[in-house]
Amino acid sequence: MTDQATVAQPGTPEIPGKPTSASRTTLSHIMTQADTNLLGTVHGGVIMKLVDDAAGAVAGRHSGGPAVTASMDEMAFLEPVRVGDLVHVKAQINWTGRTSMEVGVRVLAERWNESTPATQVGSAYLVFAAVDADGRPRRVPPVLPETERDERRYQEAQIRRTHRLARRRAIMELREKRAAEGFED
Ligand SMILES: CC(C)(COP(=O)(O)OP(=O)(O)OC[C@H]1O[C@@H](n2cnc3c(N)ncnc32)[C@H](O)[C@@H]1OP(=O)(O)O)[C@@H](O)C(=O)NCCC(=O)NCCS
Repeated sequence: MTDQATVAQPGTPEIPGKPTSASRTTLSHIMTQADTNLLGTVHGGVIMKLVDDAAGAVAGRHSGGPAVTASMDEMAFLEPVRVGDLVHVKAQINWTGRTSMEVGVRVLAERWNESTPATQVGSAYLVFAAVDADGRPRRVPPVLPETERDERRYQEAQIRRTHRLARRRAIMELREKRAAEGFED
């Protein structure tokens, strides 16, 4: 388990944690001709929409209110999805910060013409920020990992968080340096 059972901020009450299973969600959808690309397989953007929808439902449930997508990274397409396939998008909270949450998503496809187990066809990690009625970030309950797998996902999400922040900082520093040197790009 993590040390994030509650979030304490000076002058504000603690927010009780919520277990991973409280917001875990599966969104299922049958693919149709309207979802295809020029090759006749399912367009990646259709899958990304389902991923964002499922992850958004998880973020909203966990945070108990509206949440907006701040970023989506490591979207991987592992196998083509075909018309007629039953796609299951499984999403759960991996990690929580002060106002943001990382949601991990796995995309599975049951082939309409095969009686084989569902195949994993994609995965992604999304960061959502919980927001108030004015769109300002608001605090989220800490997630309480329940299993060893949840705990591993929590620790891996922290690594991704560290890398996202470091990459953003390095790029901002480079831009400031180039601006100071007179570049106008
Ligand atoms: C996401 C958003 C609310 C962040 O607002 P902000 O003024 O930058 O606020 P902050 O800097 O305090 O960031 C809020 C949290 O989001 C995280 N965050 C912000 N941008 C991020 C990014 N690009 N990637 C990952 N995390 C990000 C911050 O680290 C912070 O997390 P923490 O409180 O857990 O430490 C704001 O940029 C926004 O409204 N973006 C548009 C969202 C949108 O329209 N999405 C698509 C439709 S849902």
